[in-house]
Amino acid sequence: MIPEHLTIYFFSGTGNARAVAGWVCEEAARRNISTMIMDLGKTDRKHIMPPQPGSMIGFISPTHGFNYPPVMIKFIARFPRSRGNTVFLMNTRAGMKLSRWFLPGLSGLALWMAALILLIKGYKIAGLRSIDMPSNWISVHPGLKEQVVKSMFARCKRITTTFAAKILEGKKALTAFRDIVQDLLIAPISIGYYFVGRFIFAKSFYAGENCDNCDLCINHCPVKAILKVDGRPFWSYRCESCMRCMNECPKRAIQTAHGYVIGAMCLFNMVVVIYFWQTVAQVITLPLDNRWIKLLVTLTGWFLSFLTMVITYRVFHYLLRVPVLREIFYYTSITRFRFWRRYKARANMRISE
Ligand SMILES: Cc1cc2nc3c(=O)[nH]c(=O)nc-3n(C[C@H](O)[C@H](O)[C@H](O)COP(=O)(O)O)c2cc1C
Repeated sequence: MIPEHLTIYFFSGTGNARAVAGWVCEEAARRNISTMIMDLGKTDRKHIMPPQPGSMIGFISPTHGFNYPPVMIKFIARFPRSRGNTVFLMNTRAGMKLSRWFLPGLSGLALWMAALILLIKGYKIAGLRSIDMPSNWISVHPGLKEQVVKSMFARCKRITTTFAAKILEGKKALTAFRDIVQDLLIAPISIGYYFVGRFIFAKSFYAGENCDNCDLCINHCPVKAILKVDGRPFWSYRCESCMRCMNECPKRAIQTAHGYVIGAMCLFNMVVVIYFWQTVAQVITLPLDNRWIKLLVTLTGWFLSFLTMVITYRVFHYLLRVPVLREIFYYTSITRFRFWRRYKARANMRISE
């Protein structure tokens, strides 16, 4: 069925998903299909308008830890039931380019979990497509070079337009089925990432010495996760690690605290975990060769690790006041190096513009 109306909901950290949403809209405009585009970072995510009967709905989001980020999953879970609507789902992934070859990212559960929720709500799935945009995860690698970003954008625009043309003609485009085996194999990691992302990655950001308190990061955060604590930006648990703050800071003041995360995990966790089990062992005798006890020990270790990060992040925030410690944290943050580029979605696609 050819849709008369199209509504696209997108979430975007650094502009990739936003660019993809824009390309789909352009294709819809060429076909005189009226389109509404909603940025989840600017929309009231709790009060969602039911879809117009017969219209097509699209959801576009980055992939975070082999899944859609929680903000998108929660939005889809709250989305009203179908009124005879079709949907399409797209995820932007961490594409790379090696010489002439474009390398794909990994989706994991991203499209499948969302598709399942929407099927239960009565929607018909018209399209499922991953788009390998330039990776924005600069906590783990430097941003890609401008030339590479440019060529990836050109390629992704072609792919997106072809996909959009197909679904807007009323055909099905379920390209993501090509990846279903690898997606299901890596699915368990996405469950672990849900916790690691929230309790460790989101708790690794800090504003260094260059921060002039311009509050751009606070004002631009799409989920309003950055607070002002003790006169400096502080990342709360709402943080989706979307990387917008770090990439947009004009002073390059926001860093990932690699030294602090690794140090805190090794030092505190070993001490806490060992002390915890030594105390337990004094009270009861544990059959350590039993596999359930082994699993319990592992899970407790993880739980205590997360707890340590929760507690120490606030301490870390205050320790940044101490000049010598601030220097240590700064010199052990790889992101501070000049060669560690920030990621800029192509200039005309910048979020802030
Ligand atoms: C915290 C984090 C986790 C990510 N996890 C994945 C992943 O599991 N698979 C993948 O292909 N890309 C992953 N990426 C890369 C982004 O999904 C990709 O760069 C996306 O295009 C960014 O879109 P945006 O600019 O709209 O935020 C991750 C990025 C971040 C910041």
